[in-house]
Order: sequence, then structure tokens, then C-alpha cells
Amino acid sequence: MVELLTEPTPDIVAALGGLVSQLSTSAPPLSLAMLEQIVNSPATRLLLARHDGDVVGALTLVLYAIPTGLRGRIEDVVVDRALRGRGVGAALTEAAIELARATDVRTLDLSSSPARESANRLYRRLGFAARDSVVYRLQP
Ligand SMILES: CC(C)(COP(=O)(O)OP(=O)(O)OC[C@H]1O[C@@H](n2cnc3c(N)ncnc32)[C@H](O)[C@@H]1OP(=O)(O)O)[C@@H](O)C(=O)NCCC(=O)NCCS
Repeated sequence: MVELLTEPTPDIVAALGGLVSQLSTSAPPLSLAMLEQIVNSPATRLLLARHDGDVVGALTLVLYAIPTGLRGRIEDVVVDRALRGRGVGAALTEAAIELARATDVRTLDLSSSPARESANRLYRRLGFAARDSVVYRLQP
């Protein structure tokens, strides 16, 4: 049910575009070139969840080496609203944890707005613990 995206196609761009719009209203439109950039980067792994062949969920695992070691981050987790509550989000997150463990990351981080209650419950259930740290962003 969960697979690693290796060959982006226009159909996958369309399906993922629909998912991204359920995650963010301000994200730029997804293109084949952007998906190819994600797939071709050694720092990103895009996981897709399928149901009856259709793409119904996605998660991006980011892996990066810094002086304190190899680190991982989970980003852009989304499941189609018609299929939520059936374990798809858990399956995607568990697959990302497995991939991260296989690459020997020191830590696997993610951040989620407290308003995203389902997401926060899911991450805690899978073993993520909240850190006492402030998340900053500069809007360039
Ligand atoms: C957060 C999100 C990805 C979770 O996806 P999901 O597929 O619904 O996740 P799961 O089904 O694995 O878990 C969600 C709920 O289903 C329940 N569940 C999990 N497996 C289940 C199963 N096999 N049978 C019944 N219920 C199940 C969980 O207990 C959980 O319930 P709760 O939220 O009431 O505690 C999804 O809600 C989503 O896309 N939200 C909008 C975007 C978003 O917030 N993304 C996260 C950004 S950090």
C-alpha cells in the first residue's frame, strides 16, 4: 500500500496536486519538474499510499547530513479526506520511520501545528515526543 515514488507521471502529479491542496492553500501548483526534482535529490524520499490503485496519501522524508550527524525530517504528510481514519497516515509514517532507521539517522523530527489534532495524536501514538523547542520561520 505504501511505495517509494521513483517515476513521476502526469497522473501522479495530478493526484498529488489534489492532496497538496488539502494540506496547504498557499502552496504553488505542483508540476512534473518539481516531482522529478524531489525524486532525483538524494535528500528526499517521497512515499505514496495507494488504495485500489489510486494515490490517496503522501509523505516526504528529508535526510540531511550536518556536523552533528545524519538527521531526518518528516514533511507534508497528507491523506485524502475521504480515506482518513483507516490507518493510511499511520502506514505512511511507519514506512518513513523504517526508511529513516535503515539510513542510520541520529534523530527523526517533525513539526505539526497543535490545531492539527489528528496529526498530533498519530505522531504521539507512533512514538514521537514533543520537544521543548520553538520553531522559527522567516518568510523570505
Ligand atoms: C493527519 C493525517 C495525515 C492522518 O491520516 P489518517 O490516514 O487519517 O491517519 P490514521 O488513520 O492512521 O490515524 C488517524 C485516526 O484514525 C485512527 N486509526 C488508525 N488506524 C485505524 C484503523 N486501522 N482503524 C480505525 N481507525 C484507525 C487513529 O486512531 C486516528 O484516530 P484519531 O485521530 O481520532 O486519534 C490526515 O488526517 C490528514 O491528512 N490531515 C490533514 C493534513 C495534516 O494535518 N497533515 C499533517 C501535517 S503535520
